Amino acid sequence: MTAKSVLILAGSPRRDGNSFRLALAAQEGAEAVGHAVELAYVDDYVSHFLRDCRQCRGADGECTLNDRFRELFLEKYLPADGILFATPLYWYGMSGQLKTFLDRSFCYYAASHPDSDTNASRMANKKIGLLISSEESYPAAPMGIVHSIQEFCRYNQCDFVGVVQGIGNKRGDVEFDPAGPIDRARRLGATLFSTLYTDYRMDTPRKGSVWDNA
Ligand SMILES: Cc1cc2nc3c(=O)[nH]c(=O)nc-3n(C[C@H](O)[C@H](O)[C@H](O)COP(=O)(O)O)c2cc1C
Repeated sequence: MTAKSVLILAGSPRRDGNSFRLALAAQEGAEAVGHAVELAYVDDYVSHFLRDCRQCRGADGECTLNDRFRELFLEKYLPADGILFATPLYWYGMSGQLKTFLDRSFCYYAASHPDSDTNASRMANKKIGLLISSEESYPAAPMGIVHSIQEFCRYNQCDFVGVVQGIGNKRGDVEFDPAGPIDRARRLGATLFSTLYTDYRMDTPRKGSVWDNA
């Protein structure tokens, strides 16, 4: 397979926590198949919430919030072929860090940004995966995050390829989850670009059997 570039966004304030361990495993998996991976802590780049752009957009149309979001978004997120979002479950949603990253991206493809068209087109056609750590294990607990990322991908014309959830609370707990989320995260990293992704419409041409050798 052709080598691709992957950005992993670590969205927990705990730098060595459970979602981070899933992120590390996904990095290992992606690197093992030859992809170039960068792992970034959202906290290192984003220190302001989204504000009313009418107040903080400069005369040149650029965002004036004084942190490193711009660098993370323009130099790491937009060029990447694949993205892995890693987040703890907080109040049945994603971490504030990750949500703020998604919110802030809007400033760069809103019509009032000078490069909005280019930035919007560079949002599309990425393979996206999601890594979640949570204390609770019931299947619907992470649905809010899954739904949010699903709609983010649909809106931005990206393929939402897979989700791995690890159960744990104390740092490192996910490594003991008998469902094996570390291995599954490694696999998600390795197969981000090779996983079959389908999302049919009524008129989508398709074969009777999904798998060639079935
Ligand atoms: C503010 C906060 C809210 C949380 N909300 C939930 C929750 O709604 N459901 C849940 O299962 N765990 C919840 N947790 C527990 C974390 O999801 C869990 O400890 C997770 O493994 C932390 O991941 P991290 O080590 O990557 O930060 C919450 C933890 C915090 C600090």
